[in-house]
Amino acid sequence: MSERVPAIKVLLLPKDTNPMGTIFGGVILSHIDLASAVEARKCGAHRYLTRAMREVEFHEPVFLGDVVNFFTETVRIGKTSVVVRVSVEAERWGAGHGERVKVTEAEVVLVAVDEDGQPVPIRSDSH
Ligand SMILES: CC(C)(COP(=O)(O)OP(=O)(O)OC[C@H]1O[C@@H](n2cnc3c(N)ncnc32)[C@H](O)[C@@H]1OP(=O)(O)O)[C@@H](O)C(=O)NCCC(=O)NCCS
Repeated sequence: MSERVPAIKVLLLPKDTNPMGTIFGGVILSHIDLASAVEARKCGAHRYLTRAMREVEFHEPVFLGDVVNFFTETVRIGKTSVVVRVSVEAERWGAGHGERVKVTEAEVVLVAVDEDGQPVPIRSDSH
């Protein structure tokens, strides 16, 4: 079986931590947003705006030094929107080194837009 390739893989640093020393949730949300845009580009070379992000629950914390993988999958291609599922997995550093844990997953709705920020068809044959 071929290995899954993440859309984004990041090593998290001290600048990404909250006062408890674990990774700030907003950092993960930001990378979910970016990973979904990487996936959406496979549907067509447009500018994409994030319209919605659904059901983000954090199951496990992310620690300093963890390598975090953002796996993506296109769930639906509409006329102007793409729905992308992003699964986030952390590879532990330090104690438990190498262990992989599921951190969260989210569905992101992106809309293709023109230069004026107005929705445009993703596929040229859409009508
Ligand atoms: C993205 C934006 C241009 C869309 O404009 P809009 O007038 O809402 O467009 P529409 O209502 O025609 O919806 C466009 C598409 O998104 C889908 N959509 C809109 N809201 C949705 C939601 N909450 N869930 C799922 N799909 C949604 C519509 O079904 C439609 O899909 P389709 O064309 O594939 O059928 C506009 O909402 C916007 O500029 N939002 C701000 C985006 C932004 O700045 N994001 C970054 C935040 S910092």
